[in-house]
Amino acid sequence: MKRVQYLQYGGPEKLRLDEVEQPEPARGQIRVRVRAAAANPMDWKIRRGEIKMLSGSRFPRGLGHDFAGVVEAVGPEVTRLKVGDEVFGATSIPQAGAFAECVVADEKNVGPKPPSVSFEQAAALTIASGTAWNALVVKARLRAGQSVFITGCLGGVGRSAVQIARIYGADVIGSCSASGREDALALGVGEVVDYRAFDSAAYRHRCDVVFDTAGVLSLSQCGSMLKRGGMALHIVPTPFKMIGCQLSPRHHLVFGDSTPQSLAGIAEAAEGGKLVAAIGRIAPLSEAITAIVELEETGLPKGKLVIVPGPPATHQPQ
Ligand SMILES: NC(=O)c1ccc[n+]([C@@H]2O[C@H](COP(=O)([O-])OP(=O)(O)OC[C@H]3O[C@@H](n4cnc5c(N)ncnc54)[C@H](OP(=O)(O)O)[C@@H]3O)[C@@H](O)[C@H]2O)c1
Repeated sequence: MKRVQYLQYGGPEKLRLDEVEQPEPARGQIRVRVRAAAANPMDWKIRRGEIKMLSGSRFPRGLGHDFAGVVEAVGPEVTRLKVGDEVFGATSIPQAGAFAECVVADEKNVGPKPPSVSFEQAAALTIASGTAWNALVVKARLRAGQSVFITGCLGGVGRSAVQIARIYGADVIGSCSASGREDALALGVGEVVDYRAFDSAAYRHRCDVVFDTAGVLSLSQCGSMLKRGGMALHIVPTPFKMIGCQLSPRHHLVFGDSTPQSLAGIAEAAEGGKLVAAIGRIAPLSEAITAIVELEETGLPKGKLVIVPGPPATHQPQ
């Protein structure tokens, strides 16, 4: 089967589309025939070797984590999923390899795809929505009437966070670039802030939750924006923020690991049309490397990049 992979950490030039052996699922794992996979900033952060502590030193290493597809083999002790199920989920960081014709993942990180949602949509939602879900639903236990500030409200995680916050009845203040204002309002952001004109002093003690999806706020900026008892959530860890989160009960690091519970919540919201990913480009696996490198280097297109192993003709962004 074909897979995007690399033989050592480094720049985009390390990526190659190779023919490899089909992977076999081990205990608790499933093999999925990939129908769509989605790119995330973590793909190139890992490839650059920025989180070697988690990604390890085994090569060749596949690229990509988010996927949606059909289960075609199950390993021992797999209990929830069976061959033929349409699923979506993410590989763990050491596993990776979703930009491929097949991928192996732990059953615990995969769930049933919502039936009316396309494979492309499901793949595009996985890590972005899972991160937003873990932050706002699991960690913050967001409630109706609360006020949440979301930086990067039109990014992959931010867009999901806005929609999840609205599902839970919270009021959203969101920052994005000036050109995104109408898009943010349409998404459900009540107060849109141009991030180039952002001044945290204007939001002093106004927020129950600050969710810094863009990783652009300092701990003290977040702290000053919180009401008494409020909580700041960080997903772009720096050494300073990691220490701050250890020392302060108001600051929390959040990760995007997929669980059966988060996937079920995401699937229900997506099935009901309340959670939709913006897809910027759909590229065939044969053009995956070019598309990923373009996104990494230019930030374009806006919206998720989705890779499809099958023929691209019928696939259009939604
Ligand atoms: N901890 C975890 O498990 C986890 C999980 C998922 C993601 N992440 C990390 O979270 C970050 C966001 O991920 P993503 O997938 O949402 O990325 P993304 O789709 O690239 O979105 C980032 C957004 O941030 C906006 N932005 C840039 N500068 C900003 C600023 N100064 N103020 C406010 N917004 C700003 C960008 O807007 P423009 O494009 O208009 O500039 C863009 O919309 C990445 O660093 C990613 O690695 C961590």
